[in-house]
Parts: sequence; structure tokens; C-alpha cells
Amino acid sequence: MMSTHHNNELTMQDLGKRVVLKGFVQKRRDLGNLVFVDLRDQKGITQLAFDADNDLKSIAQALKNEYVIEIEGVVRERSSKNPNMKTGDIEIDTDKVRVLNTAKQPPMLIQDDTDALEDTRLKYRYLDLRRPKLQHMMALRHDVMQATRAFLNEAQFLEIETPILTASTPEGARDYVVPSRIHKGKHFALPQSPQLFKQLLMVGGFERYYQIAKCFRDEDLRSDRQPEFTQIDIEMSFVDQEAVIDLSERMIKHVMKTVLGKTFEDPFPRMTYKEAMRDFGSDKPDTRFGLKLKDLAAVFADTDFKVFQTILASNGSIQGIAIPNGNAEFSRKDIDKLTDEAKKYGAKGLSFLKLEADKVSGPIAKFMSDETIEQLKAVMGANDGDLVLIVADTLSVTQAALGHLRKVVAKKLDLIDSDQFDFTWIIDWPMFEYDEKTKRYYALHHPFTRVQDKHKSRFIDEPDKALAYCYDLVVQGYELGGGSMRIHEALMQDSVFNVLGLSPAEQKSRFGFFTEALQYGTPPHGGIAFGLDRLIMLLGKTDNIRDVIAFPKTSSAQCLMTNAPSVVSAEQLAVFKDNEEK
Ligand code: AMO
Ligand code: AMP
Repeated sequence: MMSTHHNNELTMQDLGKRVVLKGFVQKRRDLGNLVFVDLRDQKGITQLAFDADNDLKSIAQALKNEYVIEIEGVVRERSSKNPNMKTGDIEIDTDKVRVLNTAKQPPMLIQDDTDALEDTRLKYRYLDLRRPKLQHMMALRHDVMQATRAFLNEAQFLEIETPILTASTPEGARDYVVPSRIHKGKHFALPQSPQLFKQLLMVGGFERYYQIAKCFRDEDLRSDRQPEFTQIDIEMSFVDQEAVIDLSERMIKHVMKTVLGKTFEDPFPRMTYKEAMRDFGSDKPDTRFGLKLKDLAAVFADTDFKVFQTILASNGSIQGIAIPNGNAEFSRKDIDKLTDEAKKYGAKGLSFLKLEADKVSGPIAKFMSDETIEQLKAVMGANDGDLVLIVADTLSVTQAALGHLRKVVAKKLDLIDSDQFDFTWIIDWPMFEYDEKTKRYYALHHPFTRVQDKHKSRFIDEPDKALAYCYDLVVQGYELGGGSMRIHEALMQDSVFNVLGLSPAEQKSRFGFFTEALQYGTPPHGGIAFGLDRLIMLLGKTDNIRDVIAFPKTSSAQCLMTNAPSVVSAEQLAVFKDNEEK
């Protein structure tokens, strides 16, 4: 028999109705002459009461957690109501019950505040998925995907799939590779993104493409990274950077409105990469709170403190953040903890100054004159009572360490409004980044990104100075999406590969097919990709990416449920070996 209702539906309006319900046994309470069962389905919970006849009660008494049952009965008012449940005013006076399936004792409590370790939850993911929180996250994921598709379909985009078995697409991570049986010794790579294919679709005459695309990256994992994740991938022809930003912004606003009912009237603010690094020490700044970085090189220009002197002499940087009323909030021990945090990001030490009405204290206070103290207060915008944290190092270490500290401090002082969506575009990224270790340039976004027109004639000689048409959408300190205008001329693409140190032979073997395609009439084009998983994390208010993926991997890139990756049999491997070797 089909159910008449879901378990979240029945209320006082339904008193006296005869109903059929199905679901899992959430909990049984046996009061002797009366048995209560909480019946759970995808939508909610309804209380069943078994008090009619003894036969039925004995079946009810044998029900265990997670048994799958079907019941019939009549809706009646509860004697003790539960205002926290939608169905809390009623219960079902049950007169028929059928066990559709029994269940082993589950290894975890199936409720939101389960006490199970994450490893247990991942091993028994199908049980974990029964919890309301994950049911909600999967529904949210569905809603976000539908809202995205609806918006892009309406805007005349075509959803086109690109290959999973393919050649390497460089996005800065390692590839997952798959051996070929037919072409012994050769391998496919799983795509890190559909980047080259979506550009080739533009060459192929499609003007507006999107795909909700699986991407694979063998990189070190964090709470917002999975080896297999999903992008909302977009590419457009005959557009400029403004058009891509505008379209993307309208899409995100549409999703926020459809799924959360949140509206954003104003355009998302924009910040250059340089400003983001200068003020927040990060290319994905959390702008929900201040604690901006300030440059203190001028304040310490004539300092007697050796460490700072040496740093300034070697073209380093001295910067600080001022914590309003921080003196009262941070003990010496707290500051020691902050020092450890700064060291995780490469800082060799952390100096602090406690500003007080008629003096300053802290290890470097003795190097400060009244004049430099006033100067420091002015630069920092700091007042008496504030605690100033200072790092001196290379510019990149200073920014990384203070960029991290401002987040640690904001968390400790509860400065972050978790309901605020501070969407911000970061624009004007450098095209290249020089790596001291490998002594070569890397593309900060990817090698297919277009250098801005004003730097086009000089980027080969001055790669450090070249800015790119590149944009990231950042929110709450996460990179939600990133994209760029692309190079559509083969010669310019070759020049970028040259700056990156790719030999002509490498260029030909890895990207020859692509640069050849650019020679057959390629429209100007650009695009963007959003991390779908991160978007759902944001909407679902979780900072664990595993909460928004049905079957995620652990932080060491394993699936605890299927045990993948696993050893494959010798027979299975033998087909990849050359016959002569066997
Ligand atoms: P990018 O590498 O910046 O750009 O990736 C785009 C977005 O994908 C998400 N993302 C991830 N999410 C979860 N786990 C990961 N390991 C992971 N890596 C990336 C982020 C990121 O902003 N082809 C370009 C886009 C383009 O130029 O159009 C690209 O892939 O949210
Ligand atoms: P030291 O000379 O190492 O005893 O350091 C004296 C003070 O300067 C201590 O409070 C250190 O934490 C701080 N300090 C040392 N190196 C740095 C640095 N690179 N940046 C900021 N403060 C530092």
C-alpha cells in the first residue's frame, strides 16, 4: 500500500484521519501497556502509539532501531505534546504494522548530535546520510544545482559534457592518471578542470557553455578541498571581463535568492589583488571584520632594534595589526600562542606593543621614542588600550603571518558575523609568480589567461609587472570561484609558454593540439568556474566540505566505505603490461 503522508505532515488538522505511513524506526519507548515508536522518513518524524491489542504490541515491542516498517492507524491528539516537532501535537493510534525489513544494530546514533567519530560515519556513510543534517545538505545541493541550471539555461547557455578520460590540464595540482590497456605504457589523466575543452568549445562555435563538471586534483587536502570535486564551469565568446563578472554575479545572486531567499541590491565590491594583499595579507580576504595590516617600515626606519634593522636593510617588510582594546583580552600566554600561529606561516617571531595612556609596554617598547609611538598610533589608527602585533620578514611571510593572525584574533574575539555574505571580486591579478626554489615563473591563475592590454607589449621582458584579466569571487575568506579572459592568439599563447620555461618540444607535445586550434579563427573569450561544493558549504553554513558531498573522501584521500584506493589483482594489472614483458 502507498503511504498517505510523509512523516512531517500530520497536524491537529488531520485528527481522526486514517493514514498509512512508512519509514525507519528512530526510537522505541516501551511503557509496558503502551509502546511509542518514532517513525522517521526523509521528511521528518511522527510518533506512533501501540496500545490497542496485545498482538500488535508484541510486534511493536520487537521493533528495533532502523527497522523499516509500514503502519496504518488513526491520527489522534497527544496527551503530552512536543512543541519542538512539526508533528508534535499528534500521534498515530496504530492498528496495523508490517515489518518491511529488519536492521542490524547500527554502529552509530542516527541523529544530528551523533557521538560517532568521523571515520565511523564515513565507513557507514549510508547510515550517516540518514541524519537530518546530511539529508538537508543533499537537498540544498540539489536546489543549488537546479537554480544554477535554470539561470544559465535562461541566459541561453548550453550544457555540454567534456571528457573524463583525457590528457593533463594544468591547474597547479598533480594529475590522477589511468593506464591505457590498448596503448600499453600510455596513460589518460583525469581532468583537473575542463579548461582546455571549454576553450575548444568556443573555437567550435559555441558562444555560451556551462557544465556542472567533476574535477580531479591530487593535492594536499584541507577542510575545503577534496580530490574529486564539482565545478560550475562557464565559458563565453565575444565578451570582455565585465560581461563575465556581470553574468557570474547575477548567477550567484539568483542562487542566493532562490535557495536562501537572500537578496543583494548592490554590485559586489571589488578590490585589486594588490589591495587585498596590502590590507588583508591574503588573496581571499575575509572582509567581515577589520584588523587591517599596516606598513610600519617608516615608523621603524631609524630603529635601534637589530632584527628590524636587518630586515629593512635587506628590503624586507615590517607590518602590524592593531587589536582594538586588545590589552584587556590578550594575556602573555595568549600572545605566546599567537606567536606560535605566526611561526606556522614562516614568521621568525612576533613583536607586540601594548598601548596604554601614558606608556607602551612589550619587548620592543624600549626601542620606541614618544615620537615613534605617536607615529605608530597614527599609521595604525590605534588608540590607548589597543594591542599591536608586529611581524618583520620578507613581504610574503609578513603578509601570510599577519593575514593568518587577523583571522585567529577575530575568531577569538568573536568579531565575525557568520550571517554576513561579504562577496568581493578580487581583480587585476599578476599574470606570473616567480618561484625562488625552482627558479622559474608560474602562471598565478593558469597559462591560458590573458595579459592586460597595457602590459601586452612588455610581459616577455618584465613578467613580474604584467597584470592579467583575471578575477576571483571571494566570500567569508574562501575562494568561491575564479576565472579569466583567455589568450585567443596562438603567438601570444606561445610567448606565455616561453615565459613559463616550456621548451618548444614540450609545448608541441603537451599543447600542440591546442595552439593549433587557436590558429583556425578563435573568438575572444573568457570564463569562470565556481566550486559547487564550496557554494553549498556557504549556504549550508558548514566549514567541512565532506558535509556537502554524498560520498566524500577522507583528508588522506581515501573512501573508507569502499576502501578505495585498493589493490587490484595481478590479472587486472597484467593487461596493462607489454606482451613481451610478460
Ligand atoms: P580554479 O583552479 O581556481 O580555476 O578552480 C575554480 C574553483 O574550484 C574550486 N576548487 C575546489 N573545490 C574543492 N576542492 C578542490 N580541491 C578545489 N579546487 C578548486 C574553488 C575554485 O575557486 N579552469 C579554471 C577556471 C577558469 O579559469 O575558468 C579553474 O579550475 O572554489
Ligand atoms: P629576540 O631578539 O629573538 O629575543 O626577539 C626579541 C623580540 O622580538 C621577541 O619578542 C621576538 O618575538 C621579536 N621578534 C623576533 N624576530 C621577529 C620578527 N621577525 N618579527 C617580529 N618580531 C620579532
